[in-house]
Amino acid sequence: MPAWLKDAVFYEIYPQSFCDTNGDGIGDIEGIITKLDYVKSLGCNALWINPIYDSPFKDAGYDVRDYKKVAPRYGTNDDAKRLFEEAHKKGIKVLLDLVPGHTSEEHEWFKKSCEIDHNEFSDRYIWTNGAFCGIANHPYVGGEAERDGCYMLNFFKCQPALNYGVLNRTEPWQMAPDHPDCIATREAMKDIMRFWLDMGCDGFRVDMADSLVKEDDDVKSATGKVWENVREMFDRDYPEAALVSEWSNPECALKYGFHADFYLDHHGNGYNVLFRDGETEGGDHSYFKKDSNESPIRFLADYRHKYENSKKYGYISFISCNHDTPRLTKTMDESELKIGYAFLYTMPGVPFLYYGDEIGMKYLENVRTKEGGFQRTGSRSPMQWDDSGKNFGFSEAPADKLYIPVDASADAPSVTKAESDPDSLLHMVKSIIALRHEHEDLQADADFEVIYAKENERILIYRSGNLGVGVNPGLEEVKANKKDCTGIPASFSGDLIYKIGEAGVTEDAIVLGKQSFAILK
Ligand code: GLC
Ligand code: CA
Repeated sequence: MPAWLKDAVFYEIYPQSFCDTNGDGIGDIEGIITKLDYVKSLGCNALWINPIYDSPFKDAGYDVRDYKKVAPRYGTNDDAKRLFEEAHKKGIKVLLDLVPGHTSEEHEWFKKSCEIDHNEFSDRYIWTNGAFCGIANHPYVGGEAERDGCYMLNFFKCQPALNYGVLNRTEPWQMAPDHPDCIATREAMKDIMRFWLDMGCDGFRVDMADSLVKEDDDVKSATGKVWENVREMFDRDYPEAALVSEWSNPECALKYGFHADFYLDHHGNGYNVLFRDGETEGGDHSYFKKDSNESPIRFLADYRHKYENSKKYGYISFISCNHDTPRLTKTMDESELKIGYAFLYTMPGVPFLYYGDEIGMKYLENVRTKEGGFQRTGSRSPMQWDDSGKNFGFSEAPADKLYIPVDASADAPSVTKAESDPDSLLHMVKSIIALRHEHEDLQADADFEVIYAKENERILIYRSGNLGVGVNPGLEEVKANKKDCTGIPASFSGDLIYKIGEAGVTEDAIVLGKQSFAILK
């Protein structure tokens, strides 16, 4: 386990929209370099950057054409190397985004795979043995290549699935996961990882990590074996590098070798019921909505077993949002976000902050889809640096040349505005992250235990290491009688070390005012 993860707070950068330094309307690596001090000022000490590889950009770069080449619109490989170096000088780690499950249909491997004559890459992808033989339960394409077969897709039409094998085989063209051609795919991916790690990157966020081998059960044991093998390489050759999975099943992902696994917005899971439960009947049921009247019980029912069963292997990663998810501002106001963020950035595990969420950037409802973004496009708009600058200081390009238009609303937030307002979300985010760095009990390894949570009650109190944390997202004052609490640390004095709203401890109760969050020692 890389030791630096213990105190890591990640900042996710969607490179297209962060900072454009050459006026072409698209963010670039140089732009990220110029904003490293800003990242540092937030207290973030690690970056995850969405794919920066050469790509036709039909899925914003998740359709990789050349894994070993930076897309010219972002710069060169030398720029990437410089980014790693400059970030390291400032104590910031950099994770790239690895897309191991599929390539672009324009990747050289795929072009070779489409050829009639058998070659090294014929089975790099999953092909059937006839152009009229489709694939049950998976999207596929037929008739596009001269080769007599259909190939499996992972996501969009432009993303043919790489071949890591099929676990339960029913067709003659399906290969076992330990077939030499499937092992060759894995080794090719390890070669790509080594290429970037040797250049100085600190690891990878791994796209769709759970679906390499095609297998039906949730345990994903065969895909797990691929990652166990990758982890061996990390432990042996890159012990300080990190692997973070897009899996959202830490009980599997962390056991198979990932150091951290995202808690994604999957309907009804613990993360969803905290922040994003707006799709069930009767309004928004998210715990952090001030008027939802939800208790923390649904969250705990999902989180506790995930946490307990995975904590000895690695970390759960909470997110504010990501490039696939609507920004929380779509449904939450600033008062709700403050309580929610205070919670997110003090929980055990390794948290991620999506660029712009620290200033409450909006989810843009009516932007035109860009590069396969569709409804995701609204969360990918240009970073709003400076409200007096052109395009919020994102780019010198004419407004109609921007990758995605900027937020045109009159109350669009910006970094400069937020910096000058002492009550801003930005200052709150900085202060809670700073507090996290000060207290080991608010970092990745802190031990989490519920002190007080009940059905039909808004209040949540838990122990984080030797600290007590109280949360009340609701509009009424709440309290927990000490006699109904379990596991209060012996050292507990009740002194506040952080609060939002009003909070205090009386002789027999912990009292939390409306919309409050308190850390007590
Ligand atoms: C992941 C990425 C998403 C991408 C998809 C296909 O879910 O986060 O942006 O479209 O994989 O690669
Ligand atoms: Ca640019």
